[in-house]
Amino acid sequence: METLRASLNIQPALNLQLNERVNELKSAGMKIHHLGFGQSPFPVPEQAQRSLRENADKAEYVAVKGLLQTRELICKLHSRLDGLERFTADDVIIGPGSKDLLFLLMNVLRGDIYLLSPTWTTYKPQAQIAGRNTHIIRTSPDNGWKVTPSLLQSSLNNAIPGSLLVLCNPDNPTGACYTKNELQDIAKVIQKCDIIVLCDEIYARLTYDADHNTLVKYLPDRAILSSGISKWASCGGWRFGYQLYPKKLRPVLDAVQALASNSYTCCSSPIQYAAQTLLRFDNDASEYVQHCSRILQAVGNYCANTLLDAGVKVSHPQAGYYIFPDFEIYREKFEARGIRTGEQMCDAILEEAGVALLAGGPAFLDREDRFTVRLCFINFDGRISLKASRALGLSTALPQSFPQEYCKGTTEAVDNIVRWLQSLQVSNGVSDY
Ligand SMILES: Cc1ncc(COP(=O)(O)O)c(C=O)c1O
Repeated sequence: METLRASLNIQPALNLQLNERVNELKSAGMKIHHLGFGQSPFPVPEQAQRSLRENADKAEYVAVKGLLQTRELICKLHSRLDGLERFTADDVIIGPGSKDLLFLLMNVLRGDIYLLSPTWTTYKPQAQIAGRNTHIIRTSPDNGWKVTPSLLQSSLNNAIPGSLLVLCNPDNPTGACYTKNELQDIAKVIQKCDIIVLCDEIYARLTYDADHNTLVKYLPDRAILSSGISKWASCGGWRFGYQLYPKKLRPVLDAVQALASNSYTCCSSPIQYAAQTLLRFDNDASEYVQHCSRILQAVGNYCANTLLDAGVKVSHPQAGYYIFPDFEIYREKFEARGIRTGEQMCDAILEEAGVALLAGGPAFLDREDRFTVRLCFINFDGRISLKASRALGLSTALPQSFPQEYCKGTTEAVDNIVRWLQSLQVSNGVSDY
């Protein structure tokens, strides 16, 4: 019987497939460093854990859009941290993760969907399931994988009214952040078209050095903000995410709410109560995020520098958990070994260097012969590194040796990849790793 899934050619999420493969190899006794899956290595902040325990008895269904007080706190948080003062609780919907809400949004729109390449692996499959046409805008490493106003202009020239552009900032998988000027220029292009933008800013609080800049500020009537607590508060499994809509897009929000009421009903009530502790973003939350961010920056830079020394093209991450290295320079050596696709390269790295990576080709909307990968540098015990960073205090910089001492799972993995690359060189293309 032809199922819907087969007819749409929808595959299970690639990062989750890789997870399963890694688990199989691990249970067969192989030591694997898993750099293929992006989830926070840090513990849930203590005060949020306590609040969840205290709210375990809140078992009633709550409003589809979410608890009023929680939605108010979301508005306050984005007003204080992002300068977005115009949102009120009515403009917010809370769901069981921002991923679900995004999927509902794609289902209520009737236009096309514009995605950058590379981009987070989920947008395209969701658009396909929702029956939307997709258009891919190819960014270049020469612009730090960011979309430029001219590229956007030429891509949106014939966009049908009501189409949706998805912009992930800070970006998964490249670790790039847009500057205020870049966003202002992008906003000017978008203002000339009849499209709306979904600003996926789930990594915003994990921006390392500079303040986070949001496109939502420059597109008051057309930008939907998508965020949650999965990344900065390490609560991926809590399944709590939200979207903020401009007043002019109220019909879209109403339609998403209607789908929500007919699908997930409401986000878990105890989670919504406990999330309030995080959304207040008090001194404890701020201290937690500063420690997590500087640890991520240190280990991310270690990975980027180690790969750059081996000739690999890669930008230093500016936020979040990811870098997107390009191993193109090794093409000849790979081809001498019969490695012709990013997938085959990742298979070889997994089997011979014991490191799991997600190939940067089709999963990220690019060609299969690209030797890019998404590298998630979170393969370490965040409890230990957080404790060590706290012991130093925020006024003392992390020592250079911090990643090797406290983020070993990641630094060893990247060292293994480089040794594997060098083994290709020594033996004229035949790995003796
Ligand atoms: C770019 C991006 N957006 C959204 C999500 C979904 O987050 P959640 O559904 O946990 O809110 C993720 C999770 O990996 C992500 O990387």
